[in-house]
Amino acid sequence: MKKTVYLLALTALVASCAPEKKPEMALLNAKDFEATVDGKEIELFTIKNNDIAAQVTNFGARIVSLFALDKDGEYQDVVWGYESIDAYLKATDKYSGPVVGRFGNRIGKGQFTLDGREYQLSINDGENHLHGGAGGFSTKIWDAKQLNDSTVTMSYFSADGEEGYPGNLTITLTYTATADCALKLTYSATTDQTTIINPTSHAYFNLNGTSDNAMEHTLMIAADSFTPTDKGLIPTGEIRSVAGTPLDFRAATTIGERIESDYEPIVFGGGYDHNWIFSKQSLEHPQVRLYSAKSGIEMIMYTDQPAVQFYSGNFMDGIDTGKRGDKHNYRTGVALEAQNYPDAPNHDNFPSSVLKIGETYTQTTIYKFSIRK
Ligand code: BGC
Repeated sequence: MKKTVYLLALTALVASCAPEKKPEMALLNAKDFEATVDGKEIELFTIKNNDIAAQVTNFGARIVSLFALDKDGEYQDVVWGYESIDAYLKATDKYSGPVVGRFGNRIGKGQFTLDGREYQLSINDGENHLHGGAGGFSTKIWDAKQLNDSTVTMSYFSADGEEGYPGNLTITLTYTATADCALKLTYSATTDQTTIINPTSHAYFNLNGTSDNAMEHTLMIAADSFTPTDKGLIPTGEIRSVAGTPLDFRAATTIGERIESDYEPIVFGGGYDHNWIFSKQSLEHPQVRLYSAKSGIEMIMYTDQPAVQFYSGNFMDGIDTGKRGDKHNYRTGVALEAQNYPDAPNHDNFPSSVLKIGETYTQTTIYKFSIRK
């Protein structure tokens, strides 16, 4: 008897995110994602483990839905997305949930030099290159395979010269729903010619479900410094301390509290749209904590990347209609993009984003969920 009680207590401890009852999950219908584009099949996959579930599509290797339990024992879908492939293809918003690359974030004027040779990438953001260009990884149909109930793997072959990048590059991304209530993203990539690489996931999170204003969430970023930019959001090369600025999130702070500040970087970003440099680069540290008191959901981001772009949805404009009729309204989601620094190929003092023949690029990023009552 004693043994049974002990075992029950232990089970409760291990499965600390497990609910007492099994609530409903508003899963999307895989049929609504069946399509053939450029001769390739688009699909929607569902992965689950304990109390986390995600739906991902091979269109842009994108996260479509992500379910986590709230303090009332109900599932909330905590990412922005659309309910069918048609809606994704029609949306004016191109960056809800995909992997962006070959180089996520911006490269000034789309230019860089590698091994003494100058390269010109496609231009799709004013005079700059953003998220791998208009035909970047987020627009491609990846080859995908569900390995088991909790794992889907996807890969994409990016040909030499695509969007101006040198080298044939093969990238693989595996999504895993893990037993401890996390969604884990593991990337690897190889090339046949020296190139640059900086892929990241561009999911918009809202821990109350996606139609709510996200500015009441609190945020912690374990970063002492950031990279100031020009008006076009291209880093100047300076690495500036966050101390005494509205970008200091070392202690958890409500996002909306300082977002209307007249601090020049905030004005340039139209809110938060900056690259924070982690004080310590390590997969073991909680690098970002996003929390909503309303739902009680906390998300911790772990990553082996050196930095994160925190973007507060300043360009969300309400034009597109998302899942369950939600409007893609101003600041209703926040992107937390684990990455190397923007424009890294043009700054010797930034970490290198160069990938050479024989090397393997790797990245691990984890979004882990728990409930705080
Ligand atoms: C960038 C924003 C950009 C957005 C597009 C973010 O990663 O930092 O400036 O507008 O992506 O969705």
